Amino acid sequence: MYVCTVVTLLAMASIYTSNDSIPNNTQPVGSNPVIIANVDYLGEQRTNSCTHRDLGFLGQLTGRWYAVYGDTLWCKASVTEPSQDPEGFHGMVRDSIAECSDSALRVKFTQLNEDSPVAHPKQFIPCNEAWGKTLTTGFGGTSLCPVDDDNSLIFYLVNQNPDGLVGAGAAQVQLSNDSPTVVKRYGENGWWWNATHEARYGLHLWLGRYEFLHEKPGIRDSMNTGGDVTVLETKHTLNHVQQGDCFAIRTAPAPEGPWSDDVKVYTPTPIDSGFTYAPGVHPYLDSAGKTLTISYTNKNHIQVIKVTLE
Ligand SMILES: *[C@@H]1O[C@H](CO)[C@@H](O)[C@H](O)[C@H]1NC(C)=O
Ligand SMILES: *[C@@H]1O[C@H](CO)[C@@H](O)[C@H](O)[C@H]1NC(C)=O
Repeated sequence: MYVCTVVTLLAMASIYTSNDSIPNNTQPVGSNPVIIANVDYLGEQRTNSCTHRDLGFLGQLTGRWYAVYGDTLWCKASVTEPSQDPEGFHGMVRDSIAECSDSALRVKFTQLNEDSPVAHPKQFIPCNEAWGKTLTTGFGGTSLCPVDDDNSLIFYLVNQNPDGLVGAGAAQVQLSNDSPTVVKRYGENGWWWNATHEARYGLHLWLGRYEFLHEKPGIRDSMNTGGDVTVLETKHTLNHVQQGDCFAIRTAPAPEGPWSDDVKVYTPTPIDSGFTYAPGVHPYLDSAGKTLTISYTNKNHIQVIKVTLE
């Protein structure tokens, strides 16, 4: 991977000396080596609380894996099983974080409130009222992106409902009392890039960081970008994209492409004809890469499949 990446970068540098030779990376190139042997539906993900939520982007802090969720709706007080939750609003946070376990069917929120008998997750990126943030302020977050042994970054988009997008920002995250904790948010108002005229997600920065961080053989990392997931591995980059209602894999030697055609993986059954989205790979469950365990959102349920590759 290391040699491969250096060669790719040198090649790209010469390509960009002439506009004519910039490849059109929206076009599939080459063949896709992935062959799906089997897909098993494993079930719905459970937690140490009771919530409905979406996303669950997977990333690392201090070598441990965490899932970052979007809007996290608390079940009614004392309800322990999400399927038994009565209709209605019972409280929420705009994002939350949970530590992964040896099964994608089980995660553990690391910051719970005082609710009894069922404690509910706290908001991971805290609302700062001095910046005009309230519970109505949406945070479109990415996963944790490690920058060194102790620190990770998370990128997010501040959505000042109902006024719309404000800006994109980055926060530094460290472990505190064994719990991922935002220790700093960059920018005067908690964000860096003004959403009216600048990039909204900071994705390129994130991709670049990942590209250079983990160039050790056998290590694979997942990057989640809204509906997309990219897994870097030693030989190929796998990209799991939502395509209509199905999930597919495409491969590339590097994040900038060129990308292969898609191989269809799985078509979830949408609950109440809703959307299925945000597939995320749990690479820590199989370092050999023979299987891919993928969680995704289906109407605020997090469902899990296991894909076996040939
Ligand atoms: C790249 O390919 C896409 C899809 O076919 C096409 O819509 C687009 O115009 C192409 N871009 C360039 C610069 O050729
Ligand atoms: C963002 O930029 C726009 C101009 O493009 C400006 O009107 C607005 O005040 C800026 N927002 C903030 C919060 O600085």
